[in-house]
Amino acid sequence: MKKLVIANFKMNPATADEASDLAQFYSGKVKGLENVEFVAALPFIFLSDVLKKGIAAAAQNCFHKDVGAYTGEVSPLALKNLGVQYVIIGHSERRRMGETDEIIGKKLQAAARNGLIPILCVGETQEEKEAGQKEAVLEWQISQALGNWKLEIRNFQLVIAYEPVWAIGTGLVCDPDEASKTMEFIEETIGNWKLGIRNLTLIYGGSVDANNIKGFLVKQNISGALVGGASLKKDEFVKILEIANFYPVK
Ligand code: PGA
Repeated sequence: MKKLVIANFKMNPATADEASDLAQFYSGKVKGLENVEFVAALPFIFLSDVLKKGIAAAAQNCFHKDVGAYTGEVSPLALKNLGVQYVIIGHSERRRMGETDEIIGKKLQAAARNGLIPILCVGETQEEKEAGQKEAVLEWQISQALGNWKLEIRNFQLVIAYEPVWAIGTGLVCDPDEASKTMEFIEETIGNWKLGIRNLTLIYGGSVDANNIKGFLVKQNISGALVGGASLKKDEFVKILEIANFYPVK
């Protein structure tokens, strides 16, 4: 199986041409790499251009209703109809802007209902880590995201990105052994709910770059990475893709 490497452009770049050129450049590189799946997570307004070029794309958010009077929101159904495959749900930058676990649960359900593959982001803050609450936080975030609707949707694909909040955009990375142990915990936690997940993919995110990616991808239970800052640096990100190609998921 291929490693999943997702470029999270966040609210970058400033023009559609730049976004499309960057995504196309990476997609071109990946054509020669048989063990990597590349996904471009872009601002909504750039998705269409990239999809027209046949590049797999993720939205960075969606609303939890399919249609209706919700000015300024973007429907998961419309995203699906546009050809989007993935959607990031519950990124810590959105949680910090007030997105609650309850809303994240609703969004996850809406994404799965519409056949999008949710990329659920979970992770503890520095304070929570220091207080020894990491596992409790992850269990809470996962239970709130998935637990309330476990019987309603069956047979869906799910990606969980473990992104310690203290590692995002800070240059501080999680120790890969620790990240791998955390993946084990997440897998066990999900197992406890016996959800109808057909395919669970666990990836790491938080200050991933070309120097540290290998440490994560050599771990059997880390199937890829969600890359923010480094995904905007062409040479750096191409190196990440090339390194990922050496470590297919067994
Ligand atoms: P970073 O961001 O790689 O810049 O730390 C990761 C993310 O926010 O998904």
